[in-house]
Amino acid sequence: MSTSTLPQHIAIIMDGNGRWAKQRFMPRLAGHRAGVEAARQVVKNCLKRKIKVLSLFAFSSENWRRPAQEVSHLMELFLTGLEREVNVLHENNIQLRFIGDRTRLNARLCQKIQDVEKLTQQNTAMVLIIAVDYGGQWDICQATRQLAQEVEAGQLKSADITPEKLASKLSFADLPNPDLFIRTSGEVRISNFMLWQLAYAELYFTPTLWPDFDEKELDKALFHYTHRERRFGYSSEQLICSNNVS
Ligand code: IPE
Ligand code: IPE
Ligand code: MG
Repeated sequence: MSTSTLPQHIAIIMDGNGRWAKQRFMPRLAGHRAGVEAARQVVKNCLKRKIKVLSLFAFSSENWRRPAQEVSHLMELFLTGLEREVNVLHENNIQLRFIGDRTRLNARLCQKIQDVEKLTQQNTAMVLIIAVDYGGQWDICQATRQLAQEVEAGQLKSADITPEKLASKLSFADLPNPDLFIRTSGEVRISNFMLWQLAYAELYFTPTLWPDFDEKELDKALFHYTHRERRFGYSSEQLICSNNVS
């Protein structure tokens, strides 16, 4: 597959860790551990394919509703995973960014996030976005709040609020929106992921559970992507004509 036909930005809901563990009569935490390994692999495989941006949904705004023990295990996994992986990510020229509401994360994790973001900020091979305590509704809400503050300060007129203006305040506004959205585990929903930014993403759902999502599975998703016609509101005929011209 040539890089020109591949997505620039892939966004993934890594779902199914719990069911993967259950099938093996293991605790949910074992599923999450296996999920971290699958995440490592997908980062490596996207880098290999020269994908520019990879977003991974690690913990949603709603995942706080899970049992306290599972939540603290997950937070611990994020911290140890970061500590373990940061050097390899940095050596591979990967830039790390976290999106989400940091106010509810514990101080150690917050500090680590700041450190790795600072360390890797000049890296250019790939941007790895990790969504923790992230929700699409939260993102739109924080963007709206920023615009409201500008209006209150007299710097912006409400009449000048456009979709572009709002989009400029969203998380990762400087990066392209996802071209390909992948969700594992057979669930066919977006679960409050990047609600705004997914407006024109191609959606790919697979029954494979996240810990089993390997290189072959990634290639299957990419294969589907390359065979879709992205129309962005145009008609199919218009796209064929413009392809003939260029
Ligand atoms: C996804 O796997 C990981 C997180 C939400 C943190 P799940 O834990 O949701 O796995 P299932 O859906 O219960 O199988
Ligand atoms: C979505 O998965 C969030 C992450 C993968 C981090 P969930 O498993 O929490 O989603 P729902 O609750 O089934 O919609
Ligand atoms: Mg789930």
